[in-house]
Amino acid sequence: MLNIVLFGPPGAGKGTQSTRLLEKYGLVHLSTGDILRAEINAGTVLGLTAKSLIDKGELVPDEVVIGMIDNKISASANKNGFIFDGFPRTTPQAKALDEVLQKKNTGITCMLALEVPEPELIVRLLERGKVSGRADDQDENTVINRIKVYNESTLPLKDFYKAQEKFAAIHGVGTVDAIFESLCEAIDGVKA
Ligand code: C5P
Ligand code: MG
Repeated sequence: MLNIVLFGPPGAGKGTQSTRLLEKYGLVHLSTGDILRAEINAGTVLGLTAKSLIDKGELVPDEVVIGMIDNKISASANKNGFIFDGFPRTTPQAKALDEVLQKKNTGITCMLALEVPEPELIVRLLERGKVSGRADDQDENTVINRIKVYNESTLPLKDFYKAQEKFAAIHGVGTVDAIFESLCEAIDGVKA
C-alpha cells in the first residue's frame, strides 16, 4: 500500500493537492477536517462538540479524531492506500495511526511536508474564507491561532517521521501544477 501523510500548516495546499494525488495514485483521501465539518453539517453530537473548538482554531481531542480515522480506515478495505490530510496533528495521533496501520499489516510510506511562509498562509486562508464559508478561515485571530497551534502541537511530528526516515520537505509556493509535480517526484522516489 501507498500511505502518504500530506503534512503542512493550514493553508499549505493539502486539500488541493490531495484531490490530484488520489486520482493519480488511486488512493483514499482521509481529511479529518472534512470529516469533522460533515459531522457539524449533520448536526451530530460529535459535530456540536467539535464546532466550538474548530471555530476557535483549537484541536479536537486525540481520542475523538483517532476513533474517526480508525473507523474510516476499517471501512475502506482493499484499496491502494490512503492520503492522510490534516491528520495526524499530534504525536499521540501519529503513534495511534502507526498502530492502526500495523494491524492491517501496512504502515506510513512517507510524510510529504508542504512548506509555505507564514505571511503567505494568512493571505491564502483569509482569501479562502471569502468563498469557503468556513468561520475559521474568516477571522484573522482564528487564522493566527491555527498557525500557532500548528507550530506548537503539530510541527514536532516532522521529527517523529524524520526519525523513521520517512520525511520529505516540498516547496509549497508556486503553481498548483509545479507543486503537484514535486509531490509526484517525491512519491515516485520512495516507491522505486
Ligand atoms: O485540517 P483542517 O484545516 O481542515 O482542520 C480544520 C480544523 O479542524 C482544525 O483547525 C481543528 O480545529 C480541527 N481538526 C482537529 N484535529 C484534526 C484535524 C482537524 O482538531 N486532526
Ligand atoms: Mg484542508
